Amino acid sequence: MGKDVIVACDFSSAQATFDFLDRFTDVKPFVKIGMELYYAEGPSIVREIKKRGHKIFLDLKLHDIPNTVKKAMAVLSKLDVDMTNVHAAGTVEMMKAALQGLERPDGTRPILIAVTQLTSTSEQRMQDELLINASINDTIVKYAQNAKKAGLDGVVCSPLEASMVKENCSKQFITVTPGVRFADGDVGDQVRVTTPEKAKEIGSDYIVVGRPITAADDPVAAYKRCCDAFIG
Ligand code: C5P
Repeated sequence: MGKDVIVACDFSSAQATFDFLDRFTDVKPFVKIGMELYYAEGPSIVREIKKRGHKIFLDLKLHDIPNTVKKAMAVLSKLDVDMTNVHAAGTVEMMKAALQGLERPDGTRPILIAVTQLTSTSEQRMQDELLINASINDTIVKYAQNAKKAGLDGVVCSPLEASMVKENCSKQFITVTPGVRFADGDVGDQVRVTTPEKAKEIGSDYIVVGRPITAADDPVAAYKRCCDAFIG
């Protein structure tokens, strides 16, 4: 498994996405399609981006009863994505069901990871609003262990938590980490953030970067800056 930078294409239309991707002439970044774009354009956007030669992380964060998630994953497995995800809060049983649904008839399946706690959630909010009476780190480790128990390949967490997750699960357990900002950039609504350099040091496998690239004056230069800092 190679380290990579995944670009969060949080656009509201196919046209805006293609205008953005057209700027990348000599590289084909690993692309994340999230709820905004998928709900706007449907499965055709996945096929079209795949046809252009990009790897795809379909970030729909499924969270429902096990049977519903299993059936939804069976539908998504027909799209040729490389990675997809669920919320670990859906329980081990739900994650197991997701894995079963995702397996294609030929035995292959995309990488399946689980969201631990969103990188926009602070410990205080988690405790006050979700009534989780544990530290955010203990919660993340427990959710990651649940994901591993269910047979998933890894988790989505903050880069700040990547080494802790690997110590408690395994070195091979994949960490996909949003919440990445350049040292001189805006944090926006993210809370548990760090830089691409630090994410590399802590041991993330993939960093997910949205606005620092998509909203940059020169997105290609910002992408390359991320790659240089994270992959080297
Ligand atoms: O623009 P920004 O770099 O904050 O984008 C981060 C992306 O990663 C968004 O698409 C967001 O939905 C996603 N994400 C996240 N935190 C998680 C899981 C996914 O920020 N825990």
